[in-house]
Amino acid sequence: CGIIGIVSRDPVAERLVDALKRLEYRGYDSAGVATIEDGRLTRLRAEGKLVNLQNKLKAEPRSGTTGIGHTRWATHGAPTEGNAHPHFSGGVGVVHNGIIENFAEIKRELAAEGVSFETQTDTEVVVQLLAKLRKEGLSHRHAMQAMLERVTGAYALAVIFEDLPATIMGARNGPPLAIGAGEGEMFLGSDAIALSPFTDEVRYLEDGDWVVLTGSDAEIMDGEGQPVDRPIIRATGKAHYVDKGNYRHFMQKEIYEQPEVLSHTLGAFVDMTTGRTKMPKGQDLDFSKIRRIALSACGTGYYAALVGRYYFERYARIPCDLDVASEFRYRESPLGDVDLAIFVSQSGETADTLASLRYAKSQGLKTAVVVNVEGSTMAREADVVLPTLAGPEIGVASTKAFTCQLMALASLAVRAGVDRGVVDADEELELTRVLAEAPRLAREAIHTEERIEALSREMATKRHALFLGRGFSFPLAMEGALKLKEISYIHAEGYAAGELKHGPIALIDDTMPVVVIAPHDRSFEKTISNVQEVAARGGEIVLLTDASGAANGPVEGSRCIVLPKMAEILTPIVYAIPLQLLAYHTAIQMGTDVDQPRNLAKSVTVE
Ligand code: G6P
Repeated sequence: CGIIGIVSRDPVAERLVDALKRLEYRGYDSAGVATIEDGRLTRLRAEGKLVNLQNKLKAEPRSGTTGIGHTRWATHGAPTEGNAHPHFSGGVGVVHNGIIENFAEIKRELAAEGVSFETQTDTEVVVQLLAKLRKEGLSHRHAMQAMLERVTGAYALAVIFEDLPATIMGARNGPPLAIGAGEGEMFLGSDAIALSPFTDEVRYLEDGDWVVLTGSDAEIMDGEGQPVDRPIIRATGKAHYVDKGNYRHFMQKEIYEQPEVLSHTLGAFVDMTTGRTKMPKGQDLDFSKIRRIALSACGTGYYAALVGRYYFERYARIPCDLDVASEFRYRESPLGDVDLAIFVSQSGETADTLASLRYAKSQGLKTAVVVNVEGSTMAREADVVLPTLAGPEIGVASTKAFTCQLMALASLAVRAGVDRGVVDADEELELTRVLAEAPRLAREAIHTEERIEALSREMATKRHALFLGRGFSFPLAMEGALKLKEISYIHAEGYAAGELKHGPIALIDDTMPVVVIAPHDRSFEKTISNVQEVAARGGEIVLLTDASGAANGPVEGSRCIVLPKMAEILTPIVYAIPLQLLAYHTAIQMGTDVDQPRNLAKSVTVE
């Protein structure tokens, strides 16, 4: 979820909704704003996308000068208008991002005292608790403090009180919350992007902090209620609202940006004049003494980390462990000789990945994060920041951030190989020369679009699909399947090609499309044998390969998407592109909301 608050002298409702637009990547199940109108707490809420709230506000304009807003990714309670934030009770209004873990217990307690609940949300306990504490005579601040002492879990909160005009209170424990100052007005929001039209200087609350915001001041207290100051962070290169330009969707625009952003990311890890690998500016990481790496991430970042493992093992000969972040922390595996943990996250905010990073730190590991959002929580907390310079990614399905993550991991693995004496100076030059070909090859991969669009028409008639790959292409098979299911809602699974015969082959019949990622590399022959097994059972094959693959892997009835020949290190980066295009065009055929697919959010700040 995304939250926003403004204390001003001018009406705030429209600016609140505008800021929510920039927070929609955090969820779009419902949205709402609350303002104080002539001394009365009032709200407007709407189910579904933000545009519904915008239309309501047009019909019923508001003039209040203090207000809070919310865009929701549903956790507890269906995404209905009734469950939409802000939640109200007894003159208190609350918006919340996160999960109040002891809500059931508090709810029982309050219900026993006669409080009646209107929603199924965990958030309502915050508002009911505050209303009760105020009724019992506690001051606004004391009520806030007592409420914070009672709730556990993860939260970013913004609170307004009907009888305390021109003030907003906020609190953070987990999900981020930033404060910004303007001329005679103050802002509170989930991130610097939300606040970007108002200010490029923000202060982030730390876990346990809470704040009292007025038009001219932000008074920050720590968990003990002691006044604290938090550093001002300047958002370099103002995080403006990005528009689609001439593209139909953000996803399409982001696919097309890949040649350019790949070269930006490469430039952070390779000195393009000497061809030598380097660490990004201001970062220090020496791989010569690293015995083992633990990698973890969520979603698409996890598949990037899986390719990363292949890279580190191949080019630097460092053994790697890999976990989805939601498992890493709780698996509590003996970390043994692991001395570096690398996390991969586009947003730098994903709760599971952040919790894993903190866990790794608590275990004394050195931590590094491959991250796209500068200033994000992970970028601030990791020992080493490895930036992907993909630029803002708006489409919920990750495209350019993924390929830039691969570029960062590939360059880093080469660097690690150099540090460890596994890659000699000539090999280093050769590998960086090859990596520098990625932008050109990515451009050529985009040229497959027309052919893929034609294939997508057939894909859109299917209910299921399989994706297969071996070696470097195995993680890509899973990413290709994830892309397709995320945005077209066609059920898809990615498998290691060799695993096919151990189960999924039972699914093959003449209605099952099988997308095979098979560049003509060392695994090619083996993969083609697996493809023959599919063909023998009538499966429809789409083969992504290069010219020598297309010439050497004649599987009857299969259709080929032919990509240029390239070195192995590049195949995951370049072959990702036709997979993105296939998901994109299939989704268009299906008529789904490509940039904001149902039930998903771009940044998930709950565990
Ligand atoms: C969400 C998104 C995925 C994304 C994952 C990890 O679930 O829908 O597309 O891959 O989070 O996000 P991160 O920002 O940590 O890379």
